[in-house]
Amino acid sequence: MTEVNNVELEARLENRERFEPPESFVEQANIVDDAIYDEFEGNWPDCWKRAADLLDWETEYETILDDSNPPFFEWFTGGSLNASANCLDRHLEDRGDEAAIEWVGEPADEDNRTYTYNDLHREVNEFAAALRDLGVGEDDIVTLYMPMVPELPIAMLACARIGAPHSVVFAGFSADALATRMNAADSEYLVTCDGYYRRGDALEHKAKTDEGLGGVDHDVRTVVVDRLGDEYDHPMASGEFDYDDLVAEQAGTKVEPVQRDAEDMLFLMYTSGTTGEPKGVKHTTGGFLSWASWTSQAVLDIKPEDTYWCSADIGWITGHSYIVYGPLALGTTSVMYEGTPDHPTRDRLWEIVEEYEVDQLYTAPTAIRAFMKWGSQYPKRHDLSSLRLLGTVGEPINPRAWKWYYTHIGNENCPIVDTWWQTETGGMMLTTLPGVKDAKPGSAGPPLPGIDIRVVDTRGNEVEPGKAGYLTVNKPWPGMLRTLYNNDDRFISEYWAEYSDTESDDPDDWVYFPEDGAKIDEDGYITVLGRVDDVINVSGHRLGTMEIESAIVGVEGVAEAAVVGGNHELKGEAVYAYVITEEEFDGGEELRSRIVEGVEDAIGPIARPEEIVFTPELPKTRSGKIMRRLLEDIANGEELGDTSTLRNPDVVRDIEATVGDD
Ligand code: WT7
Repeated sequence: MTEVNNVELEARLENRERFEPPESFVEQANIVDDAIYDEFEGNWPDCWKRAADLLDWETEYETILDDSNPPFFEWFTGGSLNASANCLDRHLEDRGDEAAIEWVGEPADEDNRTYTYNDLHREVNEFAAALRDLGVGEDDIVTLYMPMVPELPIAMLACARIGAPHSVVFAGFSADALATRMNAADSEYLVTCDGYYRRGDALEHKAKTDEGLGGVDHDVRTVVVDRLGDEYDHPMASGEFDYDDLVAEQAGTKVEPVQRDAEDMLFLMYTSGTTGEPKGVKHTTGGFLSWASWTSQAVLDIKPEDTYWCSADIGWITGHSYIVYGPLALGTTSVMYEGTPDHPTRDRLWEIVEEYEVDQLYTAPTAIRAFMKWGSQYPKRHDLSSLRLLGTVGEPINPRAWKWYYTHIGNENCPIVDTWWQTETGGMMLTTLPGVKDAKPGSAGPPLPGIDIRVVDTRGNEVEPGKAGYLTVNKPWPGMLRTLYNNDDRFISEYWAEYSDTESDDPDDWVYFPEDGAKIDEDGYITVLGRVDDVINVSGHRLGTMEIESAIVGVEGVAEAAVVGGNHELKGEAVYAYVITEEEFDGGEELRSRIVEGVEDAIGPIARPEEIVFTPELPKTRSGKIMRRLLEDIANGEELGDTSTLRNPDVVRDIEATVGDD
């Protein structure tokens, strides 16, 4: 970039100017007509036929939206379909020999595997048959505790084929976290892996699985994928089956896709909330699949001939919607990478973009901040001219990171979509349609067509432009969660109680509350400010502060703990833990390392505290509530606000002094 360009770009960011999509992009975009916003508003909810029409239905649906029992909204009722048939079978005739998944292993090129749609179809059928032979029936929940190996999407689609919902547990989660989720879902089947590669090392996964299974309160049949070969010898216990053996036994077997009702569960995904108990978010076959497909087409601009890459992990919702279901339903090529972006060198991602001629890249601001820190020499080594669109998800992207992405990766020639959504929404909600709307760095954008999002105050009245308020979704949408598994009451209290008349059977009285703060500009663009509940966002991963606190108080010697998110240059937020020790224990290095270990055992390394502050007391209100805001201010080194409502105002100064000492 020339100096003149740079100065000009800085000025545009400074003035919060908008960036028009390049002409070359608009010319070929899937959606180019601005009229879609009015059209969807005027024709709501029938507009969602457009999403449903992207799928092949075995039985046509009768009703687009059944809102007779809010907030239990139902979509495309009366219709039936199968998700694996939509992601595989219907593409075979035209695209059977085209790549469905380009899998890139971390260590070396010889590891890479291309699965054409024919290949994927074959193996999904074989594994579906194997699962059935193991006893998996329709509606049995199968847990998938797997890293980024191709067998993960294969297992997901195999489950979908036989109508068994999957529950994917992020491989980085701990043994305890696996056990909690399997118990909560009564899941009697597990697919796991011997291990995987991380920064060049073979990381074992099977022993962690075994430990987790020790905490499951019912019998489990387990399938083990062999990723590491001889590198890691893992004994197989009774009730355990080798993936390759099972698939070999079923060579060539075909499984007729089970037709699922549109509202039947496609999968469960556990996510963190305000309390310590993870929430089992239920997504359905018709609504979720149409939502993932529609947004993949409209926002990511995916076409079948593209090579598209989302660098998320399939253990999170982003990978479900935008590595597996959306892209494969559209028949495109989806890239899947096993490892980290800095192995063997810090240009690994750019090497992959160049080699596979990636058209769209969808990643997270936390990754972009790391790339920025490493420097532009890494992307410069590669030809990135295949890129046509860039996307981000997971947290707000600050204008500096936006600029870096725009210039060094997009060569000022790719629109950037900053997509706000969450596990519960199933897919994107707030973002720009890239061929229609300008991008405004730092602001996700207006709601997608047909989505009614407003920013309101505590009473539910819309706030003026520029003022902070709460994000609310005022109309249902097809990709929405249907409930929390086995917990309709919590579903209502977590997401609807805040702004809804919970006695009402008028759907208009029900407002969905995502627990995010936001502000809206005069032009209708919305900037998301972050969570307003006790959830923190570490590197785009959602963690409940209560979950971390309960892990910490489980450590011997800890009397009380409070966890908050503090600002972090790379991670966005980091975990700050304030800990009161029991009388006879000292807050020293030994206890510190046992606390770290306790958190890693209960949740996983992603929740590891950045800082642990030992303190004799925690700031509490007169009613005994911990004042987290104050602790956040201390973590961020900010000016402290009003402490007059505190029972123990002095303690704040003491803690501040301790943090300052470090
Ligand atoms: C929370 C959801 C969406 C899939 C990945 C995370 C935050 C997400 C953005 C964005 C600002 C964002 C919100 C949201 N978030 N995307 N573009 N701008 N904030 O899914 O684990 O369910 O987390 O991530 O706070 O509520 P999740």
